[in-house]
Amino acid sequence: MDNAVSGFSKLTKEEKINWIANTYFINPAEAIATLKQYWNNDAQLQQLHDDFIENTISNFYLPMGIAPNFLINGNYYSVPMVIEESSVVAAAAKSAKFWSTRGGFKAAVLNTEKIGQVHFLFQGDSGSLQSFFEAIKPNLLASTESITANMQKRGGGITSLELRNKTTELENYFQLHVTFETKDSMGANFINSCLEQLAKTLKEEALNYAGFNEAEKNISVVMSILSNYVPNCIVRAEVSCQVTDLAEKKIENPQEFAEKFVQAVRIAEVEPFRAVTHNKGIMNGVDAVILATGNDFRAVEAGVHAYASRNGQYSSLSHAKIENGVFTFWMEIPLAVGTVGGLTSLHPLVKIALEILGKPSASQLMEIVAVTGLAQNFAALRSLTTTGIQEGHMKMHINNILNQYQTTPEERKMIKSHFENNTISHAAVVSYIDSLRK
Ligand code: MEV
Repeated sequence: MDNAVSGFSKLTKEEKINWIANTYFINPAEAIATLKQYWNNDAQLQQLHDDFIENTISNFYLPMGIAPNFLINGNYYSVPMVIEESSVVAAAAKSAKFWSTRGGFKAAVLNTEKIGQVHFLFQGDSGSLQSFFEAIKPNLLASTESITANMQKRGGGITSLELRNKTTELENYFQLHVTFETKDSMGANFINSCLEQLAKTLKEEALNYAGFNEAEKNISVVMSILSNYVPNCIVRAEVSCQVTDLAEKKIENPQEFAEKFVQAVRIAEVEPFRAVTHNKGIMNGVDAVILATGNDFRAVEAGVHAYASRNGQYSSLSHAKIENGVFTFWMEIPLAVGTVGGLTSLHPLVKIALEILGKPSASQLMEIVAVTGLAQNFAALRSLTTTGIQEGHMKMHINNILNQYQTTPEERKMIKSHFENNTISHAAVVSYIDSLRK
């Protein structure tokens, strides 16, 4: 229990850092210096970051890169990506360039429905509950009016409200299942505020409802919360070209390439162990844009993977086919994103990212995110089915090894030239560094 602390959040930032450094480090001064090295000199900017969360002690940098040349629905985009994995931006850029000369990416938002639920327990006759719900539905909706007024002006709001009986799954369990349109905001705060008001009105109306007996009047609300599963907030991204047009330097036999590519996708459709890694490759692109644009990557991850399991077995999000000599590769994924609210107007780099993307609407951002995911998946499958993944990956990763071994500029030059014609692996690079230093 030596490392337990009480009242940590009440300490000043300096005191927090001192406590951490003295508790966990043999050399506290060095730890303090490293933590402070990442503070921003601009005190106001630092305060902004301090205030994002509780108990901030430093900033955690991730690189922000650009994958240019994304031709999406006829317009070019330079896509900002925030990610630590060496080869991801390079792969996205390579895919973007490849498809820019083959018609580009097509993307379309199919629907934009968000969902929230009031989960409650009701002991009594479900028929009476249904009559009660129908009688008070206008009051439920009216009670949210002060919350929904602004959203309604923007064309959004509550789009449906139903009572769902879940008692076959769990005793006495019912829901208010609510759908929302939240336009350019992700809508989490809006949805949760509406739900909490609906829950409050539900309880109050039940207490005064003449058709209920005493037990029935006592509705017990367990929780009111949005769902990050948004199977009706779907965007589709697609590329397609003549199989013969797939030819390029590393794709000498396009028919063979296309067939192997389709086979690789089929494997991910039927084999969950492969599907998870296949989809992880898609999320390399998706998450990087989600982070750069200040969106909630955990929400997106949870929703996307639930969608990948919607038929009872975890499966590939993307699909591919060859028909009449045409290769088509596509995916549909659920994405709840926003371009207003949240971090979007707070984090200076998020503002920059959105500006680079031409200040997109939430729907346009859904398209850009999905396309980046598909591009990433294309790049991964292309490497996997041709040269293997390590060639490109290690080419990018070599810098990390060089940094890890604190190589000098002269050493770097020799190492890079040596590995232009030799297979790069961690062991090979380390052993070459050793040989140089002997
Ligand atoms: C690595 O981050 C992603 C891949 O493993 C994806 C895939 O296997 O399709 C290369």
